[in-house]
Amino acid sequence: MNILIIGSGGREHCLAWKISQSKLVDKLFAIPGNAGISQIAVCENISCSKENFGNILQFIEKNGIHLTIVGPEAPLVDGIVDYLSKKGHLVFGPDQTAAQIEGSKVFTKKLCMSHDIPTAKAEFFNKSELDKAISYIKGLKENEFPYVIKADGLAYGKGVIIAQSKEELLDALDGFFIKNRFGKSGQDIVIEEFISGFEVSLLCLCDGKKLIPLDLAQDYKKIFDGDNGKNTGGMGSYSPLPFIDEVLYEKILNKIVLPTFHALKDENINYTGVLYAGIIVRGNEPYLLEYNCRFGDPETQVVLPRLKNDIVPVLLDCARGSLRDIKLKWDDEKTVCVVLASKGYPETSSKGDIISGLEEIKSKKDVFVFHAGTKKDGDKTVTDGGRVLNVVAKADTFKEARILGYEAIERIGFNGMQFRKDIALKVEETL
Ligand code: GLY
Repeated sequence: MNILIIGSGGREHCLAWKISQSKLVDKLFAIPGNAGISQIAVCENISCSKENFGNILQFIEKNGIHLTIVGPEAPLVDGIVDYLSKKGHLVFGPDQTAAQIEGSKVFTKKLCMSHDIPTAKAEFFNKSELDKAISYIKGLKENEFPYVIKADGLAYGKGVIIAQSKEELLDALDGFFIKNRFGKSGQDIVIEEFISGFEVSLLCLCDGKKLIPLDLAQDYKKIFDGDNGKNTGGMGSYSPLPFIDEVLYEKILNKIVLPTFHALKDENINYTGVLYAGIIVRGNEPYLLEYNCRFGDPETQVVLPRLKNDIVPVLLDCARGSLRDIKLKWDDEKTVCVVLASKGYPETSSKGDIISGLEEIKSKKDVFVFHAGTKKDGDKTVTDGGRVLNVVAKADTFKEARILGYEAIERIGFNGMQFRKDIALKVEETL
């Protein structure tokens, strides 16, 4: 069968890599893809914006695509699954109503609050309620800060601000409602309590009726070592998570993920595709931070290399709404992913810088280089975005995986390359 992957990041390269190993696949395509994906799939440079859904449809029909897998959230929130399904095509991903789980923070928060799913307490305001929002903030107790303010809509990791004082929260509110920093996405906001703890990502494959959880991963969101600096799309990840015991895992599943899935069903929402739960653990209690409606990036890059099953039948089952009772099997080995980012990231990104060392790494066993923001420029591979490459290493222990990964990184270079040196450091001594 022919499969199309929509997207151009490290997550999509990793998906393409995993799918290309399936005997079920004849030809693999990607829209728009990147320099790495183009080594294993035929890439077509069509943007994934709503205006181009018609062009994507034409491509699907011309190339006899049997299954389309949508990577990024924006086309899902814009309704690409509804559009292609109505034309008779099989698509992996939630429809527009279901994608609200990521597309609207207000929707998700209200869903969780009305179904007693543990999450930070929140208040909601529309742009027309500026005075009400200001009085609410002025009434908060200074000793209960920080508070978190979030844009309702998609903001690519930038729409969440942690305010340490009333002044900072009022300033952030001004950014949302007066300066319009987030455009339409920031017309509605959520102000919620801050929960401190450690974060866990649980990605589940869903067919509308049931779900299968993938193995856990942890993401590093801050740009600098020690979790300092600005938030990013993710600077690294590792899997599995040695500090999550069975009791905590069952709580995540039974208090958060399954109740959400059932709550969606109660609202007549048929959730298919990936339900990605971003969890924060305080003490031994998990709380829902946010849901995403797609594979995590860079979590996918550490989870899929540990999956022993062929992923294609599972994705097909989810898209068809008929997930069999499949037992997923996982490598005991540990994976560590380090993101190499371009100069200026996350505020800006540098494009067109030549990347060296990629050929040397190709021959290294258990090191995978998934491309994110790259493109071909003649016979050279150049940077083309904020997150440029994901170096993933797999080994018996986290310590070995870290050594393998960071050794590989020493061979790679491009102008202004930045990366964190502490990915999976805290689990290095665990087995
Ligand atoms: N790793 C964060 C995300 O995929 O949104």
